[in-house]
Formats: sequence, structure tokens, C-alpha cells
Amino acid sequence: MIETRVLKVDPIEPEKEVISEAVEALLRGGLVAFPTETVYGLGADSLNKEAIKKIYSVKERPPDNPLILHISDLRELEIVAENIPSFAYELASKVWPGPVTFVLKKKHLVLPEVTAGLPTVAVRCPAHPVALALIKGLGNPIAAPSANLSGRPSPTTAEHVIRDLSGKIEVILDGGDTFFGVESTIINLTTDPPVLLRPGPIGVEDLEKLANLKILVPAFAKGLREAEVALSPGTKYRHYSPQTTLILAEVGQCSNQTTYLEHVKSLINEYLRKHLKIAVICSRETCSNYENVIKLEIGSRKNLYEVAKNLFKKLREVDELGVDVAISESFEERGIGLAIMNRLRKASSRVITCTQTR
Ligand code: TXA
Ligand code: MG
Repeated sequence: MIETRVLKVDPIEPEKEVISEAVEALLRGGLVAFPTETVYGLGADSLNKEAIKKIYSVKERPPDNPLILHISDLRELEIVAENIPSFAYELASKVWPGPVTFVLKKKHLVLPEVTAGLPTVAVRCPAHPVALALIKGLGNPIAAPSANLSGRPSPTTAEHVIRDLSGKIEVILDGGDTFFGVESTIINLTTDPPVLLRPGPIGVEDLEKLANLKILVPAFAKGLREAEVALSPGTKYRHYSPQTTLILAEVGQCSNQTTYLEHVKSLINEYLRKHLKIAVICSRETCSNYENVIKLEIGSRKNLYEVAKNLFKKLREVDELGVDVAISESFEERGIGLAIMNRLRKASSRVITCTQTR
């Protein structure tokens, strides 16, 4: 056990002294958890091999799952990547700083520990004042996965990080809630056409329009179990999971909201008959339809950004309720909705698809 310092920091105008203290910790080879616009990251100096190794050990992360390099300016991209296609610059200049990560061919100096031995590197420039100040303060890119124990839901508050990593890392910068609540969109730009590796806050549709290009969306990027080919190493591990059994009620053949609600209700009734205690993750519009369950209202179906922001918090809450089983509703797979469904599918232990067409 080591002493973990939790330092409050203003998310919009980070205090210089606080950032300096965190930078000092990084320079000494320590680990610093910090807020980004997506989720909290667990940062290390990307040039310090021992610090990078510590990330894997404190997170209990499989050694073949590479990290993302965080830079503070588009111009730093060339320090870590090479053979950068021109549309990569075009895209990056439009979405950075922001919640999009690009996979590119790595430069020699990027440590194999960062990329888990791969010839490619994942890079992003985060749009969070605290993250940017930390990277600038260090003067090197920061290697950072999400600041959760491997397999757990990503942290969207400092409390989540404290729960998973207190006593194992030097500093936690508490900048309050993150902005989007789901991790960055990851695009592999080393292939033609580029491939979506993980959906995130910025929808593929929007990225395609921004740079006038086609992006391939493989089934695994939707989180579909049968398609879990290890194109991006992270996709083959179960993720985001509460310890409680989580059942995802997929829309499937349900043609309207009434039949879908019947589908969810019949699942609930099946478990009620077994005298089980049930939690249901449901939308503001639909929660009132369920009885004899604990309701976890996740947000409005009309605002998928709200749903995304609450997603990991609700998945963690499921475990605190002491229920036997949790059931989650599904959401529309458009824009950030694809990221929500990817995370829900990966978090769930069972997916039950509606087959009722009328
Ligand atoms: O929003 C985010 O991306 C957050 C914040 C902290 O920046 N970070 C994050 O990191 O979600 P992590 O480690 O939880 O997820 C990184 C994902 C993993 O699935 C990993 O397999 C993939 O990026 N990845 C990293 N390098 C890669 C590479 N060279 N090729 C393919 N996938 C890569
Ligand atoms: Mg992660």
C-alpha cells in the first residue's frame, strides 16, 4: 500500500500548484489519475518503462492490451507516429482536442510496453483542461488507460477511481464528473478504408462527413458477442461488468415500443416468479412501466448524451444494491448510442432478444 493523495482541481481552470504536484509525481515515475472529457485516465510518463509497467500491475490489465498516448497538440502527433495519411491530419484537425483516438504506425521511440509490442500506437488529444495542463506540464505524452481495475466499468468520477485504485497510485486529481461518460471513439487509420475499433462520443456518421471518407464498422465494434475477433486487443476481454448478473433486453424483432416494453416486462416476471430481487436500468420515459423492481433511471431516450454520461455510474450502482439480477433496456444505435449499446453488450452476462414482431 502507498499513500494516495486526492487533490481537488478546478476542471475548467486547473490550479497551477495542483498540476505541478501531479507533474512532480509523474516525473518521479508515479501514477496519476486525472479527468478527461470521456472517463478518468490512469497516467504515466510514456517514456518511463517502469512507470508503464506499473499501470498494468495496478490495473491487473492483461499485458497484451496496449495503452493510449495522450498528447496536448496536433503537432505532437509526428513525435509518436509515422506514415500518417493526409486524411488523418484532416480528421485530427477537426476533432482534436476531443474524444477520438487514432491508431497509426508507431515511431521507434514509443516504448513497446505502451503498445504491448504492436507496430501501431493509439493517440489522442483530450479536450479537458486538466488533462491538457498535465500533459503540457510533463512535456511528454502521457500513456493512460481508463483508471479502473481491469474489467470494471470505467470511472466517471474521482470516487470511482478511489474505490478501484486507492492505496495503489500516487495521485488522484478530482475534477468532478467527466463530460461524456464513455471512452473515446477509436479508429484504425492504418488500413484502407479505416476501421472503427471502438464506438465513442463522436459517431462514425459524423467522422465520415468531417473528412469525406468511409469508415468500416465491423460487428465486434457494436459489441456483438459472436463477432469478437481480436482486431483491437481490448475487444476480446469482457468489460465494464458489474459483479451482479446483468441481462440486456435487446430490441431485436420488436417493431414498436409497446412490444418492447412487453418483452422487458416478461423478463422481469420470469425473475419475480423465482422470488429474486431485481434492478432495472431504464429510461425516464419507460421506468414507470415496471413494478416490484428497483429502478435505476439512466436518462431520457431523447438525449442519448445523458444516458451515456450516467451509464458507468448506473452499472456500478447495480452492485451496491445487493440485487440478485439486473436487467437493462436497450437504446437506439445512432451516434453516441452505438457506444452505449457496445458497452451494455460487453457488460452483460446474457443478451435476450425480443422475437415478438407484433
Ligand atoms: O477515452 C479514452 O479513450 C480513455 C481516456 C482515459 O483517454 N482511455 C481509455 O483507455 O479508454 P483504455 O486503455 O481503457 O482503452 C484503450 C483501448 C483498448 O481497447 C486497447 O486495446 C485499444 O485502445 N488500443 C490501444 N492501442 C491500440 C493499438 N495500437 N491498436 C489497436 N487498439 C489499440
Ligand atoms: Mg478501459
